[in-house]
Amino acid sequence: MVVASAPGKCILFGEHAVVYGQPAVAVAIDARVELTIELAESGWSIDGMSFDKTRHPHMDSVRKRLWSNDGGPALDLQVSSDLFGAAGLGSSAAICSAFAAGLLHCRGTDSGALPYSGIATTAHLAEADAQGGRASPTDTSTVTLGGAIYVSNQKESIADWQFSRDLRIDGELRSWEIHCIDLPESLSEASLVIGFTGRPGPTGEMVAKVADLLKNEPERMTDIERIGHVTRAGVTALNLGNLEAIGIAMNECHRLLQGLGVSDPDLDRMVDAALPSSLGAKMTGAGGGGCMIALTLEPRRTAEAIELAGGRTLVSSLGAPGVRIEKSADVPIWNS
Ligand code: MEV
Repeated sequence: MVVASAPGKCILFGEHAVVYGQPAVAVAIDARVELTIELAESGWSIDGMSFDKTRHPHMDSVRKRLWSNDGGPALDLQVSSDLFGAAGLGSSAAICSAFAAGLLHCRGTDSGALPYSGIATTAHLAEADAQGGRASPTDTSTVTLGGAIYVSNQKESIADWQFSRDLRIDGELRSWEIHCIDLPESLSEASLVIGFTGRPGPTGEMVAKVADLLKNEPERMTDIERIGHVTRAGVTALNLGNLEAIGIAMNECHRLLQGLGVSDPDLDRMVDAALPSSLGAKMTGAGGGGCMIALTLEPRRTAEAIELAGGRTLVSSLGAPGVRIEKSADVPIWNS
């Protein structure tokens, strides 16, 4: 038996704009997805039911790329998660990353030598397959590498470059450079309070909504560029450990995302409720439901305010560890 896990993620700055080559920053959070993998006696199964690729398109993509196309045997999979599902917290990215790491370990890769860029690439391609071809590598890189991740269209001297990703989106080749940001110690005093609306955030639909807006009103690309400027200011603030400036950049991102039409009344109400006790608050991820986040020095007070506004909450530090093998196999499960 092999057990692999990966964290969820929150985007601090830059969602949606990152699909169009602007930068984004995300952090891994303390809630994780865990995947148990065992050899199956009969066919593929997930949580005791036969594996249905239409219900699990992301996992089907990972399975094909790392296992089935090479003739690997059927497996039983069990998924358990501390994350709110389909809520913009990267649960599908985390499952893909844990699955990719788990399969590589089942094929003999040492748990201490996981190829992070290969795992993140497999997970990114799986997200793109399931998101109508439009997906940035933000979620999949963050849940794989952990910590704080800066995705940019160029190599940045302000952060620690890890690897490059590219993908053809709507006929145009997009390239992203993935970096780690070393978070200053001073940020450990702050918490992220995550508020879930209770409704899923339909990522593919919201990404398509922004694509339609930009097609019909190309001048709105300036809003996408503005998100990029705010993100760069946010990165400087993160590097300096300047909590007030990070909060201001988060608030500005929320205002711009509202302008793109991807926030919604529940998210706005929870953001407004969090603001008096926080440094900054915004929707996170694709929007249209899903989650908001608040950066705060008073997590209990902020969580109470969000709950009074109708949200379910989860409190996290900034920058949890990335994908890892929790339980190793003594010998490869499949010696390919
Ligand atoms: C989803 O968590 C973030 C989006 O920017 C989509 C993407 O980056 O693929 C909305």
